[in-house]
Amino acid sequence: MSLAKVFITRRLPTELEQLYAIASGTARSAIASVEVWPERQPPPYEVLLAKAQNVDGFLCLLTDKIDRQLIENSSLKVISQMAVGYDNIDIAAATAQKIPVGHTPGVLTDATADLTWALLMAAARRVVEADQFTRAGLWQTWEPDLLLGPNVAGATLGIIGLGRIGQGVARRAHGFDMKILYTNRHQSDSELEKTLNVEFVPLETLLRKSDFITIHTPASDDTYHLISDRQFALMKSSAILINTARGSIIDQDALYHALSQNQIAAAALDVTEPEPIPKDSPLLTLDNLIITPHIGSASRQTRSKMATIAIANLIAGLKGDRLPYCVNPQVYD
Ligand code: GLV
Repeated sequence: MSLAKVFITRRLPTELEQLYAIASGTARSAIASVEVWPERQPPPYEVLLAKAQNVDGFLCLLTDKIDRQLIENSSLKVISQMAVGYDNIDIAAATAQKIPVGHTPGVLTDATADLTWALLMAAARRVVEADQFTRAGLWQTWEPDLLLGPNVAGATLGIIGLGRIGQGVARRAHGFDMKILYTNRHQSDSELEKTLNVEFVPLETLLRKSDFITIHTPASDDTYHLISDRQFALMKSSAILINTARGSIIDQDALYHALSQNQIAAAALDVTEPEPIPKDSPLLTLDNLIITPHIGSASRQTRSKMATIAIANLIAGLKGDRLPYCVNPQVYD
């Protein structure tokens, strides 16, 4: 029987290669012949297109565009994404072709909530500016009004999207005695609201009342530019906006306007549109904006768990078993 063929769109850390070997037998070729894209940059779309016509499984990342054209012209039996988000994959097209798509939910909740918290604290207390100030040799004495920011403790936090990561952020906010508002497509059950001590409000109310606003909703047609001029106009002039979800949720032209006109106080983004942010983006000129390069899940333990799940999904798909974490279980109906 010929071996299944797999294309992994980026090198995984060595330990994960070993894990793959264990998962698939004594040699990693036991279950599939594996090709790993060797470059630091993602494979170009044309490469993905060609590989998809020739292999049974993809293990891909959020930087890989897996669209209808690729899916409909592929020999793929499984698409396993090493991420919780999957807006880079045309799920409807995969479902129509009965191709299960795997993702890695749960294991990155804490890492992403931690980074959200790091960005919130850094933006509030101007940590990046303060470091740059020190390195520039500008620290001359203790000054009563140097690099002032707002209190985090006791402030109002607005969470847009109370899924796993939004809930993780709410739990962290308890340590800071914050009042927590949230908005979501559906109101959570009252048990969860009580445990998290959160209050459901419409988006407009959240924007008006929050000192800190943090985004934890997936990218979709519904959330595209959810935060734009009108929403910035509703925010407090002292508001701080955090986004560790997806760049497309914020209209970046509107963000530039809001930050440069001091319509809001500051923002911190781990995600942009596009990624990476172009080097000449006007956003990069702003002192009241922190940008990190999409590192929400970037703890060693988390990345290792994400790869483990992605590999388990991939192997299940190659064997024709149900994926442990499937985005489109309708393929099994
Ligand atoms: C990261 O953004 C992910 O979706 O896993």
